[in-house]
Amino acid sequence: MVELAIIVPTFNERDNVGQLLASLENALAGIEYEVIFVDDDSPDGTASLVRELSLANPRVRGLQRIGRRGLSSACVEGMLSTAAPYIAVLDADLQHDEAILPEMFSKVRTERLDLVVATRNAQGGSMGDFSTLRLGLSHLGKRLSSSISHCSLTDPMSGFFVIDRRFLEEVVHSISGIGFKVLLDIVAFSNRPVRLGEVPYVFRPRLHGESKLDTLLFDKKIGGFVPTQFLIFGMVGLIGATAHLAVLVVLLEVNRRSFVAAQTVATIVAMTVNFFLNNIITYRDRRLRGSRLVFGLLSFYLACSIGALVNVRVAALILNNGAPLGM
Ligand code: GDD
Ligand code: MN
Repeated sequence: MVELAIIVPTFNERDNVGQLLASLENALAGIEYEVIFVDDDSPDGTASLVRELSLANPRVRGLQRIGRRGLSSACVEGMLSTAAPYIAVLDADLQHDEAILPEMFSKVRTERLDLVVATRNAQGGSMGDFSTLRLGLSHLGKRLSSSISHCSLTDPMSGFFVIDRRFLEEVVHSISGIGFKVLLDIVAFSNRPVRLGEVPYVFRPRLHGESKLDTLLFDKKIGGFVPTQFLIFGMVGLIGATAHLAVLVVLLEVNRRSFVAAQTVATIVAMTVNFFLNNIITYRDRRLRGSRLVFGLLSFYLACSIGALVNVRVAALILNNGAPLGM
C-alpha cells in the first residue's frame, strides 16, 4: 500500500522528469511511494513523457490539465487525486533536495505533526544563489505570513512540504487554489494551531528549463490583490503609449511630417514595442523565438490592423474638426 504520495507540479519540465524519478528512487528506498505529475498541458510534451514512463514504472502517474494554469491549483488537485495517508509536494526542477524527504516523512509520522516544511531559512538551510531582490521579497513574505497564519513558518513561500492527509482534508475546502502560495493558504485557513515541523535544506540551482515564477513575484509585494499579469500588461501598455507619443512628437515637430503619416508610424512603433515587451515580460513563460517570433509579430499586426486604422482615421478626423495639435 502506498504510504507517501509525491505531487510534482510541472510546466515545461520534460528534461527534468527522468532525473527526478531516478533521484527519488535513490532517496526513497524502503518507502512505498507514488509520484503524481500534474501538468498544465506543457507545450514541450511533459505529460506524454510522463505517460510513457508510467507504463514501465507503476509508481508513476500523470494528471494532464487542459486550458488551465496555476501552481496552487495543480498542487491541490494532485493532492486530492491520491488516497495516500501522507502527501509530499516537490518541484520538478531538482531545486528541492529530495534527499531530505525520508527525514520529513519520518518526522511527520513519529511526531504526529500536521505538516513538515522543507525550509531554506532555518539553520543548515540556504537560499542558494537567489538574487537580493528575491531574498528581500522572501523576508517580506515571511513577515506577512506569520501575521496571518497560526504558526510561524521560516520559509512560507516554500513549495516543498509533507502534509498529513487528515489535516489537508480539514483545510482543503477553504483554500483558494489561486496563485502559487499553496503552503501559505494551507496554514492560513486552518482553524486551529498547526502542528508544524521544519527540515532545513539547500536550494539547488535549476539545471534545465526556466523558472515560471519570476514574473509572479509582484504577487508577494502587492499581496495578490490585483492579478500580476494584468498589472504587467497595463504597465507595458503605458510604455507603448509613451513610445507612441514620443514618436508622434518627433515626426511632427522635428521632421515636419503630415499628421496621418506621423500617426501611422507612431502606431506601428507602439504595436511593436507592446508586442516585444509582452513577449519578454508578460507572457515570458510562453515566449516566442525565431520563426515563431516573426510569425507572432505579423499576426499581431494583422490582429491590430483594424484598431490601428480606426486609430489613425479617428485622430485625423478629430484634428480636421478643429482639435489643437499641440498643447
Ligand atoms: N502544473 C503547473 N502549472 N506547474 C507549474 C506552474 C503552473 O502554472 N508554474 C510552475 N509550475 C511548476 C514548475 O514546473 C516547477 O516544477 C514548480 O512548479 C516551481 O516552479 P519554478 O518555475 O521552478 O519556480 P521557482 O524555482 O521560482 O520556485 C521556487 O520559489 C517558489 C516561491 O518562492 C520554489 O521553491 C517554489 O516551490 C516556491 O513556491
Ligand atoms: Mn524552480
